[in-house]
Amino acid sequence: MTRRKKIYEGKAKILYEGPEPGTLIQYFKDDTTAFNGQKRAALEGKGVLNNRISEYVMTRLNTIGVQNHFIKRLNLREQLIKEVEIIPLQVICRNIAAGSMSVRFGLPEGQALPRSIIEFCLKDDKLGDPMVAEEHITAFNWASPQEIDDIMATTLRVNDFLCGLFSGVGITLVDFKLEFGRVWENDFSRIILADEISPDSCRLWDSVTNEKLDRDRFRRDLGNVIESYTEVARRLGIMSEMPTVIQGGKGA
Ligand code: TYD
Repeated sequence: MTRRKKIYEGKAKILYEGPEPGTLIQYFKDDTTAFNGQKRAALEGKGVLNNRISEYVMTRLNTIGVQNHFIKRLNLREQLIKEVEIIPLQVICRNIAAGSMSVRFGLPEGQALPRSIIEFCLKDDKLGDPMVAEEHITAFNWASPQEIDDIMATTLRVNDFLCGLFSGVGITLVDFKLEFGRVWENDFSRIILADEISPDSCRLWDSVTNEKLDRDRFRRDLGNVIESYTEVARRLGIMSEMPTVIQGGKGA
């Protein structure tokens, strides 16, 4: 027996060495966190749901030409992904004021923004993921001006696609966070979408009732976290492929 090599462990996922060079295995944990890791819990079945939801969204994005790191789902908690050189930014796209934007600008939660707004935060837990401007990104060489343009154009495409995908199933996409990475081909690099897209990284509200169906249920102690993630998967039409324990709402 050989033990596979752990490359990185984050708050909600673990990355292992992949079967071939240039690949990794992304393992979805049940652990959930809020407020930069200060609040933590393990929610049974969350990793299975996020693995499947992210697979579905990344696959759909691939069909419209949004290149991303997803290769294939391996099992309930793992997916094979392309190894990328991660760009140390969280790219946040907002359609409706909520969370930290409401706090910062005194905007009531739920107020539609005049247009979609993209924000960048530095991925650094120790510093509390501070917001940064394009000036910082280029000055500190986190990404080039061309890469920022590519990231912003891709983020707006993802936003348009996800708004349509979710509104078709009665869900409003309030905001979401993306991460990007570089892949190298000889001396040239391009940017592709990485990480995950799931109720952990998006704010998703029921279009009729505005009920929250995302990680805010955990952040704000609203209860029924797994039930809400399950509801997102059910509306996307992917629950039939889930193990019966999760279908029954008991987690896995
Ligand atoms: P934001 O309102 O900035 O932060 P908070 O969730 O602390 O109120 O979050 C905007 C969106 O980005 C929201 O859908 C959650 C997501 N996000 C993450 O997934 N991870 C993060 O570390 C941050 C800061 C945001």
